[in-house]
Amino acid sequence: MTKYKNLINGEWKEPSSGKYSENINPANTDDIIGLFPLSNDADVAEAVKAAREAFKKWRLVPAPKRGDVMRKVGDLLVEKKEAIAFEMTREMGKVFEETKGDAQEGIDTAYYAATEGRRLFGMNAPSELPNKLNLSFRNPIGVAGIITPWNFPMSIATWKIFPALVSGNTIVFKPAEITPKTAHTLVEIIEEALRSVLGKDYIPGVINLVHGKGSVVGEAFLASKDIDLISFTGSTEVGRRINEVGGRMLKRVSLELGGKNAQIVMPDANMELALDAVLWGAFGTTGQRCTATSRLILHKDIHDKFIEKLVERVKKLKLGNGNEKGTDVGPCVSKSQRETVMKYVEIGLKEDKAKLVTGGKIPEGKEFEKGWFFEPTIFVNVTPEMRIAKEEIFGPVLSVLKCDSLDDGVRILNNTEYGLSSSIFTNDVNDAFRAVRDIEAGITYINGATIGAEAHMPFGGVKGTGNGHREGGWTVFEFFTEWKAVYLDFSGKLQRAQIDNY
Ligand code: UN1
Repeated sequence: MTKYKNLINGEWKEPSSGKYSENINPANTDDIIGLFPLSNDADVAEAVKAAREAFKKWRLVPAPKRGDVMRKVGDLLVEKKEAIAFEMTREMGKVFEETKGDAQEGIDTAYYAATEGRRLFGMNAPSELPNKLNLSFRNPIGVAGIITPWNFPMSIATWKIFPALVSGNTIVFKPAEITPKTAHTLVEIIEEALRSVLGKDYIPGVINLVHGKGSVVGEAFLASKDIDLISFTGSTEVGRRINEVGGRMLKRVSLELGGKNAQIVMPDANMELALDAVLWGAFGTTGQRCTATSRLILHKDIHDKFIEKLVERVKKLKLGNGNEKGTDVGPCVSKSQRETVMKYVEIGLKEDKAKLVTGGKIPEGKEFEKGWFFEPTIFVNVTPEMRIAKEEIFGPVLSVLKCDSLDDGVRILNNTEYGLSSSIFTNDVNDAFRAVRDIEAGITYINGATIGAEAHMPFGGVKGTGNGHREGGWTVFEFFTEWKAVYLDFSGKLQRAQIDNY
């Protein structure tokens, strides 16, 4: 059994605890992928020290050169895309087509970051005094603590790491404990690119990888005075903790938390298209996306017909191992994730008293015995105050609500503490733009599923979904840089702003 290591200061090292955890295939629990370090405070301290040291040099590497490292990373990801996807499916379950998409999002992010090395634009403004120039530059901040989830093991890590590096920060990275293999491969690739592009000027410790539990490694990140910023995607509960402690310590914190995304379907919509979208949005990644469609809001005029067609199509979805051809939906990522899903099915039936129209149980059959499979599940007669309409489930469960107008649909859609993604299906341009204006979410799709954000666009949510930062595109560079204002006076005399000129 392969024992994987941490990367600290350019060297692959065993955890100081000597302890490891098993990485298990959720589609077949007999398949153990490898053993990964259970690191502790001492490993984090060493990694942070290395990153701090590396920052002194990395910040001075010209940004276009840092971009060249990203280009090399992109090239290596392209070369290894299929192998990465296969291993990603093996460790977290979603189907091969989707893990290829996840790897592609990493590639897109790498090439975007590469070109950003030649932009990282500053801004200039005129001075209020003569013979004086006002400039402003983006500066790197320092050591970035990156904490990532298991549902997008490649792309979410790249959304954070690549812009952080191009901006000139150095990294300590703690990936989700259940998807360490993809993270290992990504860090190997970044390290290879750093060595090949920097050559004799190679700097150890620009990226450090520390595997382990959030309660130990994550907490050590939080406690470290030498970690200046933390970028986190994961649960609302952990996000609050990071915000509290980070706030006290004046760390800069970017949080990407839960969602309870909804798709509205109006009577004039293309019904087949809306059906395709909800199947993809609700059951893609086995519903384990922050952007997953977990509520469907149907206009009353089409409600019954839509449900009839939807149930018919959901029943045809093929569950199985995501690395086998023909599989539509993989397993839940873990036993405990499936238990959460089962708990919500119970709540839907007993507490909410909604009506289950399909799924709701573990599939029968020998091929499912060794994995954390759960049937795609749909509840109807769901009303806005029910728990299955409000709480994030993170699994293959769709709650269907009814509306009687666009405004009613938007009101129901907004009735959540979250605000990440949203969707409306209509062919009425006025309704579409009213929805765009009134929906409280960071992302709105018109005639598209709630999932599938592109790497170069702002990604993030409003309300309880986060703390206002955005990943993706140009917006993420706001998080990973800070502004420096520079005044250049060439008048040859003391000029007092606000005084001499008024
Ligand atoms: C997530 O679920 O946390 O927009 C990220 C999407 C993907 C990313 C999802 N590109 O669905």
